[in-house]
Amino acid sequence: MPIHSSPTGWVLETRNTAYAIGINEVGLLTHRYWGARLPFVDDYPEPFKSTNFASTDGFHHFVPEEYPGYAGTKYIDPCLKVTFADKVRDVVLVYEDFKVTASSSPTLDLRLKDSFYPLHVTLHYRIHEEYDLIERWVTLENLGDEPILVERVFSAKLTLPPGADYSLTHMYGSWSNEFQMQREPLTPGLKVIESRRLISSHRATPWFTIDRNASEENGEVWFGTLAWSGNHKITAEVTEFASTRISIGLNDWDFAWKLMPKQPFVTPAAISGYTQNGFGAASRIFHDYVRDEIIPHGKVLHKILYNSWEATLFSVDEASQSKLAEIAAQMGVELFVMDDGWFHGRNWDNAGLGDWWPDEIKFPNGLTRLTQNVNALGMDFGLWVEPEMVNPDSDLYRAHPDWVIHFPTRARTESRNQLILNMARTDVQEYILGVLDELLADHNIAFIKWDMNRGVSEPGWADAPGDQRELWVRYVQGVYHVWGTLRERHPNVIWQSCASGGGRADFGILQFADQIWTSDNTEATSRLRIQEGYSQFLPANTMEAWVTDWGKETVPLEFRFHVSMCGSLGVGGNLLEWDQADRESAANCISLYKDIRQVIQFGDQFRLISSQKNNFSAMQYLSKDKVEGVLFVFRTHIPERFNIPTIYLRGLEPDALYTVEGFDQPRSGKAWMEAGLTVELKNLQSKVLRISHT
Ligand code: GLA
Repeated sequence: MPIHSSPTGWVLETRNTAYAIGINEVGLLTHRYWGARLPFVDDYPEPFKSTNFASTDGFHHFVPEEYPGYAGTKYIDPCLKVTFADKVRDVVLVYEDFKVTASSSPTLDLRLKDSFYPLHVTLHYRIHEEYDLIERWVTLENLGDEPILVERVFSAKLTLPPGADYSLTHMYGSWSNEFQMQREPLTPGLKVIESRRLISSHRATPWFTIDRNASEENGEVWFGTLAWSGNHKITAEVTEFASTRISIGLNDWDFAWKLMPKQPFVTPAAISGYTQNGFGAASRIFHDYVRDEIIPHGKVLHKILYNSWEATLFSVDEASQSKLAEIAAQMGVELFVMDDGWFHGRNWDNAGLGDWWPDEIKFPNGLTRLTQNVNALGMDFGLWVEPEMVNPDSDLYRAHPDWVIHFPTRARTESRNQLILNMARTDVQEYILGVLDELLADHNIAFIKWDMNRGVSEPGWADAPGDQRELWVRYVQGVYHVWGTLRERHPNVIWQSCASGGGRADFGILQFADQIWTSDNTEATSRLRIQEGYSQFLPANTMEAWVTDWGKETVPLEFRFHVSMCGSLGVGGNLLEWDQADRESAANCISLYKDIRQVIQFGDQFRLISSQKNNFSAMQYLSKDKVEGVLFVFRTHIPERFNIPTIYLRGLEPDALYTVEGFDQPRSGKAWMEAGLTVELKNLQSKVLRISHT
């Protein structure tokens, strides 16, 4: 059992790491250790002592409390802040008892309660031993008779070993420029990464790493993410006593929750880990965990899809889509997806959202004939929807103007001419569930792209049963409820999460969606950088990547294919304009991808040379048994006569012989890893080289 309890507290062990907590001499639940697993349970440090420390500010800046409530002289960033019914705003948590539940992922529950008020707080720790991960979440319970107003409730506080010489890496971005990495030293004070947009957002990914001089392959990395698709917050605090701590959880900005008697509140889970093998290992741990434990169809190889969006925009009809489908099928595509524009009144982005039945003019025969045409070509059929949205110009909005998120006294700010349906409302949930269920029941639909194309404004909910500010959480719970119910009713459908590209890419949504639409930016050279950021925490099989016409004047079709082959390959160009040579080249790339996709989608991924930092980059995938691999090499732009970097392969069996396509001589795994290889390319050339165990 990887959970040890003793008079000094608890030690949670995974295969290679450990996390220890204890109760100190004044009864405070404190952090003890987070790092490499030590030989003996007694090796772990004692809890930090409060009485060792004298300061006018109290001991909280020095002693790392495991889950601090805001109280007393605690000027640090706390995890919990509440107002009790008598207006007291001070939570004094005392340890009550613990429970260990044995299973393949055992859990430790630590129960705390307020020293005076009937508030119970349970800290949950689930150990994912094989993945070196610990999942943490918190349950609040009100055992009294009066409501308690919760103003902040994080999922976890994570304390780094004493010291202040850490760097934080996080990802920022914008529409069409997601997953840009930023690494910076942590200095005294508070750094905040957050979303206030109702979705996890393009701006700030709910993910972080902390390191001390780590590289891609070496060094200590502490990392984590929040499994939540709404407003999140990660803070990194360095106190004046060189104590470095991370908080992670629901964003408390504009948040409040009226905690009613006997109605527990459960936070989303924070999942964190530690490795001594650099950023690459941290990513691979998350990749395995997402594939094996989170996504619904983690073992299913993704089909190569065609999506008509960039070809036809809103001008879809049976004839145009059938023609595209014919060409796609000839090239080897396996799934044809019709994007926006197919439903009632949808000729541009200013009308139709909400009215989810086939447009009578574009599809006089409904969708059945098109799905049959696609199926007759040997492909599955998929469809785009944006269920959370409504255009004011729609039958739905005319019937239910009160269903949108709004403040009654304010104008309703439109974005992309649309408003957001309040998914926290049960009537809205039932409507969406009803129409999508019917659509899936009536048609042979194998794939749905679920889009969400705007951030929130005027976040009002006038007739909310509790506090209006519960919207931030109840909305996301509503989306999960509808999506989860649809999944149960239609278990074979593959879902894709899209929010104007990668605006909702997180472990929360991946419980429902198998894939993410990575970015609306399909220009291959920018896409390389976006994809590298994405790979920091999500695996290649979840990363949908289309080859389009964007940049075709300068970037060769083969290069565009190679970039998209680094994830789950799709095609999105206007095939009507592709000549015979393009179609043949596409068919060849598709056929190659079919041969190597098992390794790409389920293997280990190694970022050999970063595309965010270099104009010559390399990415390697290797099967779990280390027998088969693929190397992608891209040269975007480096001046002629400059040296081409040496590429060092990774992960191979050192003593086994491997061949790399294009090199005559087999060499040991160690030689490919230590002596490396070079691949000559001109600007905007790329190569895919297969690696095999001889
Ligand atoms: C968003 C998506 C695109 C496309 C359009 C359709 O922008 O990210 O891929 O589906 O909506 O309106």
